[in-house]
Amino acid sequence: MRVITTVKEMQSEVIKQKGQGKSVGFVPTMGFLHEGHLSLIKKARKENDLVVLSIFVNPLQFGPNEDFATYPRDFERDRALAECEGVDFLFHPSVEEMYSNPSSVTLVVQARTDVLCGKSRPGHFDGVATVLTKLFHIVQPTRAYFGKKDAQQVAVVEGLITDLNFPVELVPVDIVREADGLAKSSRNVNLLPEDRQKAVVLHKSLLQAKKLIGEGERKPDALISLIKEMITSESSGRIDYVEILSYPELLPLERIEGKFIIALAVHFTNVRLIDNFILEMD
Ligand code: PAF
Repeated sequence: MRVITTVKEMQSEVIKQKGQGKSVGFVPTMGFLHEGHLSLIKKARKENDLVVLSIFVNPLQFGPNEDFATYPRDFERDRALAECEGVDFLFHPSVEEMYSNPSSVTLVVQARTDVLCGKSRPGHFDGVATVLTKLFHIVQPTRAYFGKKDAQQVAVVEGLITDLNFPVELVPVDIVREADGLAKSSRNVNLLPEDRQKAVVLHKSLLQAKKLIGEGERKPDALISLIKEMITSESSGRIDYVEILSYPELLPLERIEGKFIIALAVHFTNVRLIDNFILEMD
């Protein structure tokens, strides 16, 4: 595995490899790798000749009061994990390498951002779309792998690839969970022990909503109330949102039908957690 820190070297390496007819699987991350990331790398490894992993904590997608400074980082550990998983190139640029200061061009995402995380994190998806546009130009992937835990991100990336005509296949990969159901996240390490224990209610409440849908419940509001009640009675988490929307359009639903997402975000003492189920009615 080769670690590359400059845009020029990454671009020229990938151009050389693609010139030899090789397919490139790309896994963009902000590091502090966990099993969720490793499942993306494994899938990319299976489906492509080359695997490029990027580790870049992107300042553009953090709001002024968000956790950019405390976002967990451990490059040496990440490097060892990436090597074990058979990554060919680990792209690890500095902020100065990625952005001129001030930037003369950034992107604004026009749709799918006024709901879910986009509502409480204004500008977040503009930052994600800007960095991914740069990374897609630098890495020129055949396929790009994203975890379904960030389901709104997957929906936004779908729009980015379609609208800006990137010749990239988007590959969404299933959520990886802890044994008790909590979705794996780099931020889980910052949970206090009691919050970690209680956070299991997020997955439990999604399962309960799914069960009720199976039993015939079709009213989004009833399901949302049930999830909120479970979270508030079984934890001290402060709910940011619980929403049910069509997927991937992310539009409001009068009634449960078609493909839809049940998504939630909850603040614990030090950490805001998200989780979701994407379901489809016959
Ligand atoms: O999901 C993430 O880790 C980030 O949003 C991404 C896609 C690497 C862009 O910075």
